Amino acid sequence: MSTPEQIAYLNGEFLPLSQARVPVLDRGFIFGDGIYEVVPVYGGRPFRLPEHLARLTRSLAKTGIQNPRDDAGWTSLVSELIARHPWSDQFIYIQVTRGVAKRDHAFPKGVAPTVFAMSSEFVALPSALRETGVAAITLPDERWLHCDIKSISLLGNVLARQAAVEAGAFECVMFRDGYMTEGSASNIWVVRNGTVLGAPRDHLVLEGIRVGLIEELCAGASLPLELRRITREEVGSADELLLSSATREVLPITSLDGRPVGDGRPGPVYAKLYAAYQAAKRG
Ligand code: PDD
Repeated sequence: MSTPEQIAYLNGEFLPLSQARVPVLDRGFIFGDGIYEVVPVYGGRPFRLPEHLARLTRSLAKTGIQNPRDDAGWTSLVSELIARHPWSDQFIYIQVTRGVAKRDHAFPKGVAPTVFAMSSEFVALPSALRETGVAAITLPDERWLHCDIKSISLLGNVLARQAAVEAGAFECVMFRDGYMTEGSASNIWVVRNGTVLGAPRDHLVLEGIRVGLIEELCAGASLPLELRRITREEVGSADELLLSSATREVLPITSLDGRPVGDGRPGPVYAKLYAAYQAAKRG
């Protein structure tokens, strides 16, 4: 079966993705001056959309980009994109840039933001990957100090992911000043003595929508959870390591820097959280 052409939304119009164009002076292209969201869709319904829209609103406010729609407007745009694609499970990608203007670092006046959105099919990760878990490497976090903004300026994340790929790994676990931050495109969870540990909600990490979800899932499964600074030693001697993101859901990291995490197999906390995640997304 041939893959249907993806439909994109660009500045008020729906059109085939291959025909969507932005001018080269768009500040997203010139400066990486924009923000984005990735929203999973299960069974035709967006998952945790209000939380994603709240983060979109925060990212726009923190970057001083005018929010071109209210939540109802974003919700109807997302619904329309979903309806235009045949897949039951999708990802909606939304990007807002500061717009098109003569190249000058300072904010331009009277320029409308560029709004782009598209949908892709959500293809589940191969089950073999869930059975074995994935490899990660540790890296210094060399990104800027506003990682709480879901910025399209992702060069630091891109370089970190590439270093992981070149080391034969799936993801990296980054550290700043001796404390764990996150992965190149995921939040990282450390399981020690039955407690789930995650980095604090601050400017050094993106607050994944799965962070709030995992807090809820842990509460539902009576798993203690703490968001706090986590040392390199605590990560290095974890019983389990997990990553979470819209695209990977929750996934076990079973080797770190070439050494097994715990017994080198996905652990019981992963199994509980994955099952709870599957129930939540279909619920
Ligand atoms: N990335 N941290 C970073 C740096 C991320 O890029 C992401 C997600 C997360 C997890 O956030 P969430 O649970 O809301 O997906 C954490 C998306 C999926 C991406 O860039 O494709």
